[in-house]
Amino acid sequence: MPGKFLLSASILSADFSRLGEQIREAEQAGVDWIHIDVMDGHFVPNLTMGPFIVEACRRVTNLPLDIHLMVQSPELFLESFASAGASSLSVHVENAPNLHRTLQKIRELGCNVGVVLNPGTPASQVEPVLHLVDLVLVMSVNPGYSGQTFLPEVLPKIAVIQKWLDASHAPTWIEIDGGMNTQTLPQAFSAGVRVFVAATSIFKHPQGISTGVESLRHCLPGA
Ligand code: DX5
Ligand code: ZN
Repeated sequence: MPGKFLLSASILSADFSRLGEQIREAEQAGVDWIHIDVMDGHFVPNLTMGPFIVEACRRVTNLPLDIHLMVQSPELFLESFASAGASSLSVHVENAPNLHRTLQKIRELGCNVGVVLNPGTPASQVEPVLHLVDLVLVMSVNPGYSGQTFLPEVLPKIAVIQKWLDASHAPTWIEIDGGMNTQTLPQAFSAGVRVFVAATSIFKHPQGISTGVESLRHCLPGA
C-alpha cells in the first residue's frame, strides 16, 4: 500500500462528457482505484452504469476497477462485469439470498471479492462470510447518490468488524463509501478503514481533481 491508505475515486461525480480525461487526471493525482457505482433503479432509486462503461474505463487506465453493484440479483451480472475488466466486485448483503454462492462465483471469475453493508445493516450480517472476502465495504450514506452527508453512526460497526478481522489475522480491507471529505476521512481511519471511496471530494473539488486528491491524501493529523 503506497502510504497509509488507498483512495478509490468514484466516477459518479465525474464529468461524463470527458470521462477518460477525468480518470487520467485522477490517476495522475495519485488515486489507487477507480470506483464504479452500478445502480438499477430497483435496489436503489437511481440508474447509472453497466459493463459498457467498465469496459471503456478499462481502456483508459490500468488502475484497479472497484465495482460496487447496487442491483437486484447481482449474481446475474458477475460474468459481464468480470469480462469488462472489473478488478473487484462488491455485492450488498441485503440483496444476495445465496450470498456464499455469489461470493464464490466472484472468486472463480478471478476478481477480488467484496461484501457491502448499508448504514442500517448490523455488522453481524457479514460475520459469516468474512473468510470469503477481500474487502468489506461499509456504506456511510444510503446508496443511490453522491454528495450526501456522512453518517457517523456507522463508525462503531466498523470498529467491530476490524476487531473480528484482527482476531483472525485476515488481510481483509475495510472500505468506506459516502460523504468522505477531509473532516470525515480521519474519523473513519481511526475506526479501521484503509480504503476510502470519494466522488464529490475528488471530481467536484472547487480547485480541481488534483487538489481534491491532494487534500484527502494529507488530511490525517500529522500528515
Ligand atoms: C453512493 C455511491 C458512492 C458515491 C459517493 O451510492 O455508492 O460511491 O459515489 O459519493 P460521495 O463521495 O459524493 O459521497
Ligand atoms: Zn459506491
